Amino acid sequence: MTTSESDRERAQALRDFLHHHAHRYYVLDAPELPDAEYDKLFRELQELEARHPDLLVPDSPTQRVGGKALEGFEKVRHKVAMLSIRTETDIEASGARNFDTRVRRELGLAAGDPPVEYVAELKFDGLAINLRYEHGVLVQAATRGDGEIGEDVTQNIRTIGQVPLRLPADVPPVLEVRGEVYMRRDDFEHMNELQREKIARGAKNEKTFVNPRNAAAGAVRQLDPSITRQRPLSFFAYGWGEVEGGPAFGTHIEMLLALRAWGLPVSDRIEVARGADDLVAYHQAVGRERDQLPFDIDGVVYKVNSLALQKQLGFVTREPRWAVAHKFPAQEQVTTVEAIDIQVGRTGKLTPVAKLAPVFVGGVTVTNATLHNEQEAQRKDVRVGDTVIVRRAGDVIPEVVAVVPAKRRHDSQVFTMPAHCPVCGALAVREEGEADHRCTGGLFCGAQRKQAILHFAQRRAMDVEGLGEKLVDQVVEAGVVKTLPDLYRLGLANLVALERMGEKSAQNLLAGLHKSKATTLPRFLYALGIRHVGEATAKDLARHFGQLDAIMDASIEQLLQVPDVGPVVAESIHTFFRQPHNREVIEQLRACGVHWEEGEPAAQAPQPLAGKTVVLTGTLPSMSRDEAKELLEAAGAKVAGSVSRKTDYVVAGAEAGSKLDKARELGVAVLDEDGLRALLGNG
Ligand code: IVH
Repeated sequence: MTTSESDRERAQALRDFLHHHAHRYYVLDAPELPDAEYDKLFRELQELEARHPDLLVPDSPTQRVGGKALEGFEKVRHKVAMLSIRTETDIEASGARNFDTRVRRELGLAAGDPPVEYVAELKFDGLAINLRYEHGVLVQAATRGDGEIGEDVTQNIRTIGQVPLRLPADVPPVLEVRGEVYMRRDDFEHMNELQREKIARGAKNEKTFVNPRNAAAGAVRQLDPSITRQRPLSFFAYGWGEVEGGPAFGTHIEMLLALRAWGLPVSDRIEVARGADDLVAYHQAVGRERDQLPFDIDGVVYKVNSLALQKQLGFVTREPRWAVAHKFPAQEQVTTVEAIDIQVGRTGKLTPVAKLAPVFVGGVTVTNATLHNEQEAQRKDVRVGDTVIVRRAGDVIPEVVAVVPAKRRHDSQVFTMPAHCPVCGALAVREEGEADHRCTGGLFCGAQRKQAILHFAQRRAMDVEGLGEKLVDQVVEAGVVKTLPDLYRLGLANLVALERMGEKSAQNLLAGLHKSKATTLPRFLYALGIRHVGEATAKDLARHFGQLDAIMDASIEQLLQVPDVGPVVAESIHTFFRQPHNREVIEQLRACGVHWEEGEPAAQAPQPLAGKTVVLTGTLPSMSRDEAKELLEAAGAKVAGSVSRKTDYVVAGAEAGSKLDKARELGVAVLDEDGLRALLGNG
């Protein structure tokens, strides 16, 4: 097909438009266009390029999509060596002073001379990358390698939304940007969560990642760009390599600001510092902010601001004299596992917890780290006596990330969950398809009883003022409270009989209990502690059914009509109310005077896909097949196993096979995950 001038213009317009919005979305974090609109225009460009391959240019936004797998990486000789940077070993404030002293000495400055100007930056914990732009187009991305020769990872780097594929017209004709590819902590946690789910579902060859740096480095050096594409990477520019033409810059900060103006992501936590005092202040301020940052840093970097002075200072071996890295205390440390304890939660969940020899990591002393469940503990193969790497970054709870195998004792034993609950001795079981072991003791188990009461009494549930952890321990241990209704049967006499309980506090508690009886249906439902019923679900149930009795008697099908209630949650609610014991507890609570206002059932949830038949095939980027099925069914659709003329939609993910072919053959509408979300009305 010949390419008309209007096609050419349209493609150009689409590219410009999409570039602009990708920049707003990924770099500025300020999108001005709904995703669906972006996707529509993106697809239009894709189709245009497919019809007219001569319109396809390497910097087209469509070229971010991972291409075919590589055999291995090509080697790239860096035009300007990628140096490393000296690390100031002294992590105290003196680290910054030592650097300033050295710089002043090298520059021959006397004590009375003015302070040297520096730029202070964060030291991102990721992987150094050189981006080469020629006439504003990203032509190559390479790793540092040995500093002289790196690897060509262009295809992978193209998948990173924050890396512009094209820069504005006024950039130098040759511009190499240097910076760090990294992974945000929330992206890392989310990705590992998905990995754990895959492993729990029996996926082979899947693993969790140790930390964001390793995950980012692994993703960049992944041979299949379509896998890199699924790893959420980010980028910060902090320097440059070869630059030809363009304006002349006098300082490092001017250059950084120019990079930012050209559309590259430059951290806003950069500061111009005058002299050692400013560097010390920056180091301390960033040290305090470190936990709140959305990504890991392992220190800060100081650079002499004037490029002329940088030149004058030059290099020692492979390190510049004009820059230094000033580290923070590590977020990973080595320690030993002294024991593996089992904790029992409110719902009876047994959690193995590694008891560690105390270790200072990420700014706090850590003595416990969760091992999540038996499968996780065995997958990492953590054993009592092992030497392990512990990580604590940000507000994330400490984790054992790996064992140091060389230090394992010969007589160590693989960890297994005990067959019985360590608190009540009841059988501990692991249900099919579940990762967790649970105590079967129910409210007879002291641990569950205490946790269930605390949950019931908490502010967001029944809001019983004055009933805290200590008191719950006391009333449960004294045997005066065995079930939830027992709380409302407490009298002054049993309370005053408790150790350290004065009459005044006893009266306060009784008043708190009395006040809590007037509640709302969502609070009451949440307070019951039904598995998988959090506050939001409790509210949805109350809104949908209006009355407790209707919820108690609802069938699974009726429960599935509630927005956001899927099969697992419906099953859990249904099972809970089928237990005579639970109904008895509710009856008694009502008899004790617990009450709320009941309402009318809400209108039936909208079922936009009623009567539609959908077939799922392949792997969707961020949704499991079960999730997709649940959502479709909740919207009223029927999910079928094979494609026929009766099929309304086929939702196809990666590696979709014959079902997709069949759909095309029959002319059935094919959707990707975004299309599915749009269909469900939340895309
Ligand atoms: S400047 C010649 N600035 O730390 C100076 N490096 O050896 C070159 N890094 O792996 C480096 N944040 O990737 C510089 N703000 C920053 C940095 C930074 C992280 C990494 C870099 C390299 C190591 C320095």
